[in-house]
Amino acid sequence: METILEQEQVSAMPRIGDSAPPFEAVTTQGTVNFPEDYSGKWVILFSHPADFTPVCTSEFITFAHLEEKFNKANCELIGLSIDGLYSHIAWLRTIKEKIKFKGMENVEVKFPLIEDISMSVAKKYGMIQPGESKTQAVRAVFFIDPKGIIRAIIYYPLSLGRNFKEIYRALIAMQTTDAFNVATPADWHPGDDVILSPAGSCGVAEERMGKDNGDIECEDWFFCTKKLDKDEVLSTVLKK
Ligand code: BEZ
Repeated sequence: METILEQEQVSAMPRIGDSAPPFEAVTTQGTVNFPEDYSGKWVILFSHPADFTPVCTSEFITFAHLEEKFNKANCELIGLSIDGLYSHIAWLRTIKEKIKFKGMENVEVKFPLIEDISMSVAKKYGMIQPGESKTQAVRAVFFIDPKGIIRAIIYYPLSLGRNFKEIYRALIAMQTTDAFNVATPADWHPGDDVILSPAGSCGVAEERMGKDNGDIECEDWFFCTKKLDKDEVLSTVLKK
């Protein structure tokens, strides 16, 4: 029988805008102190159900293959599952030595993978969702900004492999929002028009509908876009 405290720990769900819960953890790359070790960087902290499982294996190969791309966007990756360190090490060695996925082979996972047998980190991040599994983490993705604030969260069930293009797109979109003080419309990619924050007063609404609006185009007073050059976005968010 679970105590109320245990139930509360399992159901702790950090939210967008919260400070990322701190932790110290043993990983395949040594001990990680989070968030201190990652100050000034974006972090994608993600969980997977278990080592030596096929969907997770396909995800790790894909993420490891893309790691450099994420690093160039000032973003570090950290994985987690409810497995021990030696299982993690054996699994990552097997992936490198034996597993090929979509033409990717001999892939070395260089980012840290947290051992979390005690579930202490998983519980802090709401990665255990008992309706799905009481013993395995769901596929959670936390986007944490350079100030340690949770900026976006995506959860997937156990059987659904993630879309890493979307994870990268979301990261670049949030960095663009921060750098240019704009919002990004549906399916936005660098080079697409961006959205201006809604007019906050009748005067601004009137202005937006005026003729001399510079590079701003409005469908109506509340729906205004402007061009944002792809190179300007990429040179701002990607490290040289
Ligand atoms: C997998 O990674 O293949 C997997 C893990 C848990 C449940 C279903 C699939």
